[in-house]
Amino acid sequence: MSARARSVHRCTECGAEHAKWSGRCDVCGAWNSLVEEVAAPRSSKSSGTNRRVGGAAALREGGTVVTPTALRDVTSSRQSRWTSGLQELDFVLGGGVVPGSMVLVGGEPGIGKSTLLLQVVARLQGEGHRTLYVSGEESALQVKLRADRLDDDANDVSLLSETHLETVLATAHDTAPDVLVIDSIQTVFTSDLEGAPGNVGQVRECAARLMRFAKETGTAVFVVGHVTKGGGIAGPKTLEHIVDTVLYFEGENTLDHRILRATKNRFGSVDEIGVFRMTERGLVPVPNPSELFLGDREHRASGSAVTALMEGTRPVLVEVQALAAKAGFGTPQRVSTGFDGRRLALLLAVLDKRAGLSFAQLDVFLNVVGGLRMQEPAGDLAVVAALASSVYDRSIPSGAVFIGEVGLGGEIRPVSQTERRLAEASNLGLERAYVAGRAKATRTRDIEIVPVATIEALFERLFT
Ligand code: TYD
Ligand code: MG
Repeated sequence: MSARARSVHRCTECGAEHAKWSGRCDVCGAWNSLVEEVAAPRSSKSSGTNRRVGGAAALREGGTVVTPTALRDVTSSRQSRWTSGLQELDFVLGGGVVPGSMVLVGGEPGIGKSTLLLQVVARLQGEGHRTLYVSGEESALQVKLRADRLDDDANDVSLLSETHLETVLATAHDTAPDVLVIDSIQTVFTSDLEGAPGNVGQVRECAARLMRFAKETGTAVFVVGHVTKGGGIAGPKTLEHIVDTVLYFEGENTLDHRILRATKNRFGSVDEIGVFRMTERGLVPVPNPSELFLGDREHRASGSAVTALMEGTRPVLVEVQALAAKAGFGTPQRVSTGFDGRRLALLLAVLDKRAGLSFAQLDVFLNVVGGLRMQEPAGDLAVVAALASSVYDRSIPSGAVFIGEVGLGGEIRPVSQTERRLAEASNLGLERAYVAGRAKATRTRDIEIVPVATIEALFERLFT
C-alpha cells in the first residue's frame, strides 16, 4: 500500500462514505452495513479523447481545461440499436441493444442469467457483431458444455475465463468487441483496490471502469449481478446508479418460465416484461404470455377468475385463484402470492361490509397463477369474484374475464386501456367481460360486455 492510500468506510446499502466505522449508517439508517474500503491513489492516466491542455495558465484547481461541445454538434455515428434476435430481450431493452450502453442483468443464482447472455452473444455474433464473453464463474469447458446444449450456435463467440479486471479490459481494448459480457461482476476484481472480489468497493469500482470502457469505445457491456437474499444486486443500489439499464431475471424454480423485467432503463420504458421458457435447449421467448398465466382453462374449480393486466404496453391475461377455508383456532390466516396483502385485507373488508360476505372465520389464500405480480387495481374485480366464488363454492363460467377496480363503497370503477384488455381477452377466445358499469357497453369483436356497477350486482349475476 502506498503512503497516500486512504481508508474509508462505505455503506453497502446506500454507498455513503464515512470516515470512521460505526454500527449504523447515518445517511440511510441501515444497521451493520459499513465496510472498510482501502483506496490506492488514482494513477494520473489521462483518459478522455477530447482532452486538451491549454497551457500552464489553464491549469486550475488541479484539473485540465476541456472544451465543452454544443449539443447540436454532438453526433453519434452509431445511434442505431442492434437486434439480438431474442425478441423478448430486445423488447424489454426498448428495441434492441444500444451500443455504448451498460446493462446489468440481476437474478438469483440458477435462474438462467448465464444462459440468457450466452444466447444473446451467440445471436449477436451470428448477426456479424464481434463478441467477448468473460466468465469469472465457470471454466471455458463449462461454458462450452452449456453452449453445446443450446440451439444457438455459439462457436464463434470469443471466451475469456478471467477475473482480473485489468486483464479483461486490456484484452477488450485489444480485440475490440462490439459486445462484452462480464459474468459476473461479483467475481471480477481490480488490483487498484484491496479487498476480495465481490466486496462493495470492488464491485462499484469494476462497474465504473466497465462503464467508462463502454462509453469510450461504444461497446455494449452486459454485466451479470447476483441478487442477494435481500433482493438487491450485491453492492445494491450503488451499482444500479452506475449502469444505464437494470434488468431482473426472475421466476420460480418449480416453473419453467422466466420473466425479464427492466427496473431502470435510460433508453426505454421500464414497464415492459419479456417472458421466456427454460427448455432443455436454452431459453425460448414466449411471445404470448397470456397463455402461460391463464392456467388450465378446462378444469376450473370454484375460486378461480381471470383478469387482464397491462404489463407495460401489452395486455396479459392472468388467472387469480382464491381459497377460503374454515379456519382452525386463533386468528384466521391471510396468505397471498403475487398480490399485496394489505390490498387483500381491504377487499375482504369491502366484501364483508358491502356484500355481506364474512371471512372472519375463514382462512384466505390468494394466488396469482404463474408467478406474476398483480400491481394494478384493475385486477380487483377478479380477486373479489374469485373470493366470492370460493365462499359460495360455485365456479365462475369459463370464458369470463373481470376488469375493474373495486372502491371502498363496493362500487366498481373503470380502469385505463379497457379496449386493449378486451381485445386480448377476445383474441384468446374469452366470451364475456365484466367491466365497470360506466364503461361503454361496446362489443369488441366476439366478446360480450357486461357492465356492472357494484360487487353486489356482480354476485347477483354470477351466482343466482
Ligand atoms: P444458468 O444460466 O447457469 O443460471 P445463472 O447464470 O443465473 O446462475 O442456468 C442454470 C439453470 O438452467 C440450470 O439449473 C440448468 C438450466 N438449464 C436448462 O434447463 N436448459 C438449458 O439449456 C441450460 C443451458 C440450462
Ligand atoms: Mg451463471
